[in-house]
Amino acid sequence: MASARRFWIDTDTASDDAVAMVMAFKNPAVEVVGISVVAGNVPLPQATQIALYTAEICGAKVPIHAGADRALVRSFVTAQNVHGSDGMGDIGLPLGGRTPTSTDGVQALINAFRANPGTMDLVTLGPLTNVALAIRAEPKFASWVRRCVMMGGTGVLPGNITPLAEFNFWVDPEAAQIVFESGMPLEMVGWDVSVADAVISDALAAEIRALGPLGAFCVDIQKVLREFCRNETKLDGFDLPDPIAMAVAIEPDMVTSEANLRVEIMLGEGHVRGQSMVDHLGGTKREPNCRVVYRVDRERFVGALKAACSSR
Ligand code: RIB
Ligand code: CA
Repeated sequence: MASARRFWIDTDTASDDAVAMVMAFKNPAVEVVGISVVAGNVPLPQATQIALYTAEICGAKVPIHAGADRALVRSFVTAQNVHGSDGMGDIGLPLGGRTPTSTDGVQALINAFRANPGTMDLVTLGPLTNVALAIRAEPKFASWVRRCVMMGGTGVLPGNITPLAEFNFWVDPEAAQIVFESGMPLEMVGWDVSVADAVISDALAAEIRALGPLGAFCVDIQKVLREFCRNETKLDGFDLPDPIAMAVAIEPDMVTSEANLRVEIMLGEGHVRGQSMVDHLGGTKREPNCRVVYRVDRERFVGALKAACSSR
């Protein structure tokens, strides 16, 4: 068997991040070397506890480090209206009392890639604050990352937090800009991909739930997200942006439509804040810096999700 893909996961752990973690932990072709947590969906302490809880129920023995508790310059905004006040569907999970490996997630990130230069993939599932701080602290960091697969932005519109911007990039646009200017090998799996190829209908959710305890976990924690999608994003189910980004990280050839383009992150205020400006026609005259993912093979994605949810 080919050697395991070695991942470092950076996450603002809430209900979809948790499913992405299950997909990584339960895939025999993946070794999760470590996890750094960042504030985003929920405040940092909660995101850290959710990551610890998810690793525990998966039986994953992995270092989990708390990182940045706020964006570089923007004031803190959460997505608890989307995922629940506890970030996990408010279904009463015991999400407290666990201790992270450290509270210096940025240094842990730097140390891990310094020790594994060019051999480990970085999968980001939240705002890019930790990654930007690592790039600022260690100029060589970007060169040590084999590939960086991000859930973030939109290859084509719409956004979800504004008509033009996706939440992860909107929360900390300065951090996203630092990452996109860093020279790191980037792969962007935007929210447009999630709404196109990762919507889980109620019928499919019932199928996944019946696969076993991890299936029930992965579905039940989407309780608040399901209502948000019903009332706000008008989806026929709940969408799983982080899991489809994780699926692309694990199986890059699951992508069915992509382009290698220049992507720049807009700063400023209002609707433009945090927009991932994709230079489709080369107007910026700047070198491409990102594999922009437009579509993923939905059947393969659902198959990978079901395989993870069937694991014990
Ligand atoms: O816009 C979707 C992204 O924002 C996902 O990563 C979700 O977990 C939230 O962080
Ligand atoms: Ca996330």
